[in-house]
Amino acid sequence: MSDVVDLRSDTVTRPSAAMRKAMLEAELGDDVFGDDPTVNRLQERAAEIFGFEAALLFPSGTQSNLAALMSHCQRGDEVILGAESHSYRYEAGGLAVLGSIQPQAIANRPDGTLELGEVEAAIKPDDPHFARTRLLALENTITGRVLPRTYLEQAVGLAKRKGLSTHLDGARIFNAAVAQDMKVNDLCAGFDSVSSCLSKGLGAPAGTVLLGSTDFIQRARRARKILGGAMRQAGVIAAAGLYALENNVERLRIDHENAGRLARGLRELKLEVQHHSNMVMVRMPPEIAGELAGYMRSKGILVLPGAPLRLVAHLDVDARGIDRALAAFGAFISSCPAGRSR
Ligand SMILES: Cc1ncc(COP(=O)(O)O)c(C=O)c1O
Repeated sequence: MSDVVDLRSDTVTRPSAAMRKAMLEAELGDDVFGDDPTVNRLQERAAEIFGFEAALLFPSGTQSNLAALMSHCQRGDEVILGAESHSYRYEAGGLAVLGSIQPQAIANRPDGTLELGEVEAAIKPDDPHFARTRLLALENTITGRVLPRTYLEQAVGLAKRKGLSTHLDGARIFNAAVAQDMKVNDLCAGFDSVSSCLSKGLGAPAGTVLLGSTDFIQRARRARKILGGAMRQAGVIAAAGLYALENNVERLRIDHENAGRLARGLRELKLEVQHHSNMVMVRMPPEIAGELAGYMRSKGILVLPGAPLRLVAHLDVDARGIDRALAAFGAFISSCPAGRSR
């Protein structure tokens, strides 16, 4: 483990020695021809774990989400999604730019859910004045917040009653599953598609799997081509993904505990903190956040200067690293009383 404690994101992890060995030894072929045995194995294994007919490997979650949206929606169709969702906010408007899909954003409530009455009211009637509402897209976890299974059932039920398809951005779905002691197949039941990242808490250097029916995955394969194409000997990446799925899921509990340890320590420093799964949000004035990030960097602790400040636990940070971060926070706070929550 490096000396730097990097709390910016769970995407900063480096592949472990065992994961690198799996990558080095992976059997390879040309995945555009469907010839890469390791990619095929990953896709079969992912489909099995998630309880879907088929899966497709993508380089990134952004490409997987967009391919999913383009596979559900035609030009001029509409997707209902959260105003805080990654697909709406952080994917460069790809759904509009490349998919010609209209986003209908709904404010996320503090727990990350969309109010289902608002979702229902946003579904457009079949009228040439309106875009065709085709899809409901949810995200779980969303900024660490875990959407309860009962809520997901209600949301999927509403979508089905209204004839909408459903997509789940499950970039961190394994965090949601571990937090609730559930299996991902139960958590994702009813969704028409799920996108799940291997390169976040699970520690692979790249890769996202998209799950769906065989038909849906056929369409997604075409969308993936439109969005830049497939990779060739992608088994080097798939091997990391397979390793991650077999070895790095249950240990997400440790990240959740470390995030809890961090949250408790920050509360003792009188900071206003929220803790959800592997993430800790700290309320902080923006001008202090920038100063704090610079100070922390000088102590070998990396944080993104946001307000609120988002701190993320992952497999390259252990309890000792969390304690080092807390000590640096403490030193900063005592030298800068304005750093306390207002
Ligand atoms: C919820 C969520 N969805 C999708 C993505 C996109 O993943 P990628 O960075 O692999 O494109 C991210 C990235 O952080 C994310 O947090």
